Amino acid sequence: MSTLVRPGETTKVSLRINNVVHQVEVEPRKLLVHTLRDIGLTGTKVGCDTSVCGACTVLMNGKPIKSCTVLTVQADGSDITTIEGLSVEGKLHPLQEAFWENHALQCGYCTSGMIMNAYALLKEHKNPSEEEIRNYMHGNLCRCTGYQNIVKAVREAAKRMGA
Ligand code: FES
Ligand code: FES
Repeated sequence: MSTLVRPGETTKVSLRINNVVHQVEVEPRKLLVHTLRDIGLTGTKVGCDTSVCGACTVLMNGKPIKSCTVLTVQADGSDITTIEGLSVEGKLHPLQEAFWENHALQCGYCTSGMIMNAYALLKEHKNPSEEEIRNYMHGNLCRCTGYQNIVKAVREAAKRMGA
């Protein structure tokens, strides 16, 4: 049996994204980040496309992943959380509020990836130290802020979330 994929051939994939099930038809080579953005979830950014910057970070089955390194077909049946899934009824998540109030962003390009990775960290560890935050988030790069206010925002959010 041939395993060759013909150009343009597509596969059906089911993704549960922010608690909504999406059925999509994708080419096997299509990256998850591109599928998310084509669905309209453009809060997830593509910075490098090579697993370096972390701008494309989302949660897959509760764990942070760089969605430029996962094929959509590999995510079939998964539960995905993107930045759009954090606010509830228009109210920002404490991490989003803390980033805003602590000036933890400038251009904002890295911010959704930063927040998603910080969200994963605070699920694992309610009260991380500055060092733990820096270690956990070393795969998220920011070209604007110098990181100080990002770390401050994550600590502030941890407090608000009841650490
Ligand atoms: S776009 Fe995925 S790590 Fe940079
Ligand atoms: S705020 Fe501009 S890259 Fe981080």
